[in-house]
Amino acid sequence: MYNYRLLEKLLFSSGVRLNRSRLTAALRKKTILITGASSGIGERLAYRLAELPVHLILVARREDKLLVMKQEMEKLSARVSIYGADLRDADEREGLLSFIHRLPDGLDIVVSNAGLSINRSIMDSLDRKHDFTRTMAINYVAPVELLLSLIPLLRRAQGHIINISTINTSIVPLPKWAAYQASKSAFDIWLRSASPELRVSGIATTSIYLPLVRTPMIEPTAAYRSVPAMSPDHVADIIAKSLYTRRRSWMPWWLPLGQLASVLFRATLERFAERRLRGRGR
Ligand SMILES: NC(=O)c1ccc[n+]([C@@H]2O[C@H](COP(=O)([O-])OP(=O)(O)OC[C@H]3O[C@@H](n4cnc5c(N)ncnc54)[C@H](OP(=O)(O)O)[C@@H]3O)[C@@H](O)[C@H]2O)c1
Repeated sequence: MYNYRLLEKLLFSSGVRLNRSRLTAALRKKTILITGASSGIGERLAYRLAELPVHLILVARREDKLLVMKQEMEKLSARVSIYGADLRDADEREGLLSFIHRLPDGLDIVVSNAGLSINRSIMDSLDRKHDFTRTMAINYVAPVELLLSLIPLLRRAQGHIINISTINTSIVPLPKWAAYQASKSAFDIWLRSASPELRVSGIATTSIYLPLVRTPMIEPTAAYRSVPAMSPDHVADIIAKSLYTRRRSWMPWWLPLGQLASVLFRATLERFAERRLRGRGR
């Protein structure tokens, strides 16, 4: 279904049974914000939801790309608004927020998806403080500040927040991914911490813990070209399903085993990582 090899089928159990009528009923006339909609997972999700009678607000820096998407999607069933913004920039974030707060029908769902990953060793990062500030800016500060402003709208709508997280937030961290993993973990913990309060207020929260997904984000890492990775269409189906199940989290079936191993064998796994780095002369 998603063009997986055998190992990928085993790792990602490809069958998502989307119940179209439940999805349509749950989302009819809803307003859905998707950050990072111009590429990868956000783009595939936007096209999936454009088949439904919803209002999509698509946000990313590449407004020209969003415009092409809007033109294609409006041949389907959705109404589409696009908003070009660098979400690291406080003024551009404020512009987006005032656009959303002026919507007559409010806001029902936020898919917090925009993100940046950086793969660089600490030794190569000594003069690159900006790697850490820009990953924190887009992966942590931006979603926190957007949500602080949008929670009252979501509360009124008894809405839903979906965080596109990563498996790396809950296993022994990998070397060379410090900026990415620290910033994704920060927002993951923020949302999990706020989640009980949000749920008591009627706002559902879903954290989606993804392994590698074959999107432009992983293209610069040559080593990832031949390793198993999920399809962004598969991830879009998982997110779409969570919109009507309002489940708390999704993770691949093997992640709990990885979490257990990370607790029980932390020192061994850390030593293994060191041995691999020594083997490569780093
Ligand atoms: N791919 C994976 O292996 C993987 C694994 C686990 C989790 N994830 C998470 O999945 C999410 C989506 O990633 P993806 O794989 O679909 O990557 P992607 O194809 O690179 O998409 C990233 C999206 O974020 C937007 N974005 C980045 N910086 C932005 C900024 N400053 N302001 C506004 N928008 C910004 C990009 O749009 P513009 O460039 O147009 O701004 C793009 O639409 C991320 O949160 C990522 O951490 C990915």
